[in-house]
Amino acid sequence: MALEKIIAVIALSATLLDGSLDAAMPDKNIDGSVFIINRQHSVSRRYVPSDLRKAETYGVSQQMRTEAATALEQLFEAAKEAGVPLSTVSGYRSYSKQATIYQRKVDSIGRKAADRISARPGTSEHQLGLAMDIAKKGASSLTTAFANTPQGQWVMENAHRYGFIIRYLKDYEDVTGYSYEPWHIRYVGVEQATAIYESGLPMELYMSGYRLEIYDYLIHQVIE
Ligand code: DAL
Ligand code: ZN
Repeated sequence: MALEKIIAVIALSATLLDGSLDAAMPDKNIDGSVFIINRQHSVSRRYVPSDLRKAETYGVSQQMRTEAATALEQLFEAAKEAGVPLSTVSGYRSYSKQATIYQRKVDSIGRKAADRISARPGTSEHQLGLAMDIAKKGASSLTTAFANTPQGQWVMENAHRYGFIIRYLKDYEDVTGYSYEPWHIRYVGVEQATAIYESGLPMELYMSGYRLEIYDYLIHQVIE
């Protein structure tokens, strides 16, 4: 191997080891559509997306970031045309709103049970303005029974076409940190949503695979 390539590989390895390449990955951009927020990665109490708007859909609490709101409107329109009309139940939530919701859960079922279904303030996708809880039109309760309704089935099979994923998948509670939530959809953009949907993996696992692929690509580019 030529000396300059050896030097390049050493430099790249150092970059990978100190994590600075990580910082350039799309999931590190808080305003990007693939930013990961979960129990391990939180945002500040001050974080408020700059481009929130009300989605023109049936239901309540329709605020989302602009791109996600437009995608949600298209998803709702398509669902209506398919004969499975939907309602919005809960969109953007501020840090303090999430704190209130979480505390209410802790008070009613205890911290351990609350942690399986409600995000602590600073760790909810609803604070990013990229998540929406949905139900069938006219309904407002969020239960796993939604998955077995025509609406839930349609969302499961089609949400990715509009840029959304079902974020908290069945059987992956240990990875996502939360119980199955067939009603909680997260905007990531059509390309990523389709890839994540096809992978069958929760976002955390899909994104770590994606990073590894990039590392692999960079290393081979330098060596070959
Ligand atoms: N129910 C989800 C995990 C949230 O509170 O954001
Ligand atoms: Zn939700």
